[in-house]
Amino acid sequence: MPLVPPQIAALQPYQTAKTADEIRKLYNLDKVIKLASNENPLGPSPQALKAIAASLNGLSVYPTGGLKLRQILARQFDVKPENVIAGSGSEGIMSNIFRTFLEDNDEVLTADATFIGFRVLAQSRGVAYRTVPLRDWKFDLQKLAEAVTDRTKIVYLANPNNPTGTIFTRHEFDDFYRHIPERVLIILDEAYFEYAQDNPRYPDSMHYRYDNVITLRTFSKAYGLAGVRIGYGFAHESLIANLLKVKLPFEPSSLAEAAGIAALSDREFLHRTLETNARGLRFVTREFTEMGVQFVPSEANFILTLWPSAEAAGGLVESLLHSGVIVRPMAAFGVPNGVRISIGSDEENEMLIAAMGKAVAAEELVLCS
Ligand SMILES: Cc1ncc(COP(=O)(O)O)c(C=O)c1O
Repeated sequence: MPLVPPQIAALQPYQTAKTADEIRKLYNLDKVIKLASNENPLGPSPQALKAIAASLNGLSVYPTGGLKLRQILARQFDVKPENVIAGSGSEGIMSNIFRTFLEDNDEVLTADATFIGFRVLAQSRGVAYRTVPLRDWKFDLQKLAEAVTDRTKIVYLANPNNPTGTIFTRHEFDDFYRHIPERVLIILDEAYFEYAQDNPRYPDSMHYRYDNVITLRTFSKAYGLAGVRIGYGFAHESLIANLLKVKLPFEPSSLAEAAGIAALSDREFLHRTLETNARGLRFVTREFTEMGVQFVPSEANFILTLWPSAEAAGGLVESLLHSGVIVRPMAAFGVPNGVRISIGSDEENEMLIAAMGKAVAAEELVLCS
């Protein structure tokens, strides 16, 4: 028996995007912007920063497992604290779901172009990972329901989806749900729900609770707290009770919990974030259209651009890097000819468009027809 199990040995280490500082030095540039990880271009919520500063003196004391944040979220969303979990980012909670519910012979199911974190968790747990294709860049819920087998334990849906930015509607979800056996856990990953919530076609999953559905949300995006690792989830109390048995008892950290609580009440920051994003998305999509750049219309804080080949996508990423704009190639997310670009501040979006104009004008970069 090898020391390292084969499914772990076969994994590739997660490649984080290069930092702006690294690129600045590497390409000898004055200004570099990172539009690669769907972070908040306004920085963190100011209220969260204040709360972190105020909680520093308490660092010698173990945290309470997110109890206060759970109570506040329960009040805000009109559920019981027993229906809420808090953890180290929504991915931290997802990891906890894997440790709690999966057995060796189970399989998990999702779309073939979605958040890479789910695939990595499945592969490291050593369970079968199955996918169905997207349809019109959206989760094909009908095909997913048809693909469920006796071994399927988890179906993962991201709404909006990353990297496509597309949503499915409540009607589509209801239809899907009717075909899913109760022994299958549905993860509804709503990391980007704040950006989509004003769209009347977007289902707010808090309005319907099922016994085998867990909703995951995060403070990493709209609240600008990706660095402190704080996320939350809603589910039936028996699911949460089992997750709490397995969760590391002192997650989330006290700083993360304080930041999350404060961010929730920072309505002004959230409002500014959503306005900046909506304006940026309108500007970037208009400019892309004028340039003839193909993209998938997005409901989130990023946009998937499409190129004639993986090589062309790689060429674009390289060309933008030389202009000081870091974006993300999407081969690992299941779209080899895709490049995902986060929406930035007004100034960053202008810089992106200028760099994109230069890149598409270069002879070697052919646009999709
Ligand atoms: C769909 C989706 N889910 C989860 C995450 C992870 O979020 P967190 O920072 O809360 O772990 C991301 C981050 O990019 C994401 O895109």
